[in-house]
Amino acid sequence: MIIGCPKEIKNNENRVALTPGGTLELVRRGHTVLVQTSAGTNSGYTDEEYVEAGAQILPDIESVYAQAETIVKVKEPIESEYALIRENQLVFTYFHFASSRPLTEAMIKSKAVCLAYETVEGPNGGLPLLIPMSEVAGRMSVQEGAKYLEKPAGGRGILLGGVPGVPPARVLILGAGVVGTEAAKMAAGLHANVTLMDINLDRLRYLANVLPPNVTLVFSSEYNIRRELPRTDLIIGAVLIPGGKAPNLITRQMLTEMRDGTVVIDVAVDQGGCIETCHPTTHEDPTYVIDGVIHYCVANMPGAVPFTSTLALTNATFPYLLQIAEKGWERATEENAGLKAGLNIVRGEIVYREVAEAFEELVS
Ligand SMILES: NC(=O)c1ccc[n+]([C@@H]2O[C@H](COP(=O)([O-])OP(=O)(O)OC[C@H]3O[C@@H](n4cnc5c(N)ncnc54)[C@H](O)[C@@H]3O)[C@@H](O)[C@H]2O)c1
Repeated sequence: MIIGCPKEIKNNENRVALTPGGTLELVRRGHTVLVQTSAGTNSGYTDEEYVEAGAQILPDIESVYAQAETIVKVKEPIESEYALIRENQLVFTYFHFASSRPLTEAMIKSKAVCLAYETVEGPNGGLPLLIPMSEVAGRMSVQEGAKYLEKPAGGRGILLGGVPGVPPARVLILGAGVVGTEAAKMAAGLHANVTLMDINLDRLRYLANVLPPNVTLVFSSEYNIRRELPRTDLIIGAVLIPGGKAPNLITRQMLTEMRDGTVVIDVAVDQGGCIETCHPTTHEDPTYVIDGVIHYCVANMPGAVPFTSTLALTNATFPYLLQIAEKGWERATEENAGLKAGLNIVRGEIVYREVAEAFEELVS
């Protein structure tokens, strides 16, 4: 199979979807790997390392899309890539269709096969290709939150952990999945006073047994969220309804109940965000302020720490890419139901339920 790995062009996206290590494995099995020049540079991999592993380096993104049967990427294609994607080409990447109508329309029009990392399921359920990036974003959310809580960054001017004799900051985390749990661990480790909310009681029960005592587990409801808002310093949005739009747990009106300089990190922004006033931002210009509340809504947080994220991502994606390369996508998805769950759009047709529900009028 001819596998192409373009350079990511989304703002400050520094990850790469294939490492020289992965390239070596594919080439050894007789596949052709085409890598756009400097695709791996920001993750610490030179063109020479890819060449040593057996890849061919192509000079521009157009040639990668033109020659490859399968494109392996990190982020969803952006507008300038839409026209490069060809009929029957397999594109294996994060898409997050439910939050972008233009992307959904463009991929339907392309008649390509869109296999979305975010909906591939593991042998025991779960979303194995979301987990590593959620781990990175969850841990990073606390780091970013701590930064924007500092006065010169516009925040309230409070240290997450306080000091002996001075109370710590209060952190509210909405959603106790992978992002929320990693965030809770980091915030708790910094000695903050953490409240972690979810609607899944079994999850809350389990976490109550494994998280440290400065994390309080609370059932997520509007009433309980409202009670926390006036005394919270940092809010982390980490809810997920797989493939669907995140629910707005904090409305615009609720911002008025929060103190000036409160920081909101809406990690769920890539699924539309769980705070009504959230809209996607970039690493170049990550924050904006509404009603005195600092909003950080970067949709590709792990892109800022590519040395960590590229390895975390490719550790998880590579076994699937190998199955696709060895069997072709049709047999690979036939034989692996979890991989099949990644199919979102196939040759012009939406095949993933939540995406079809989000764009009913686009379903043929
Ligand atoms: N911005 C980024 O760079 C970035 C990176 C990684 C992941 N994400 C996003 O972060 C979000 C969370 O991902 P995850 O891997 O932790 O998902 P997850 O499925 O592990 O966890 C989501 C949790 O939300 C809970 N939930 C659902 N409805 C809720 C509600 N009303 N109140 C409270 N909790 C509720 C679920 O029960 C679940 O425990 C996703 O949208 C994901 O795409 C963003």
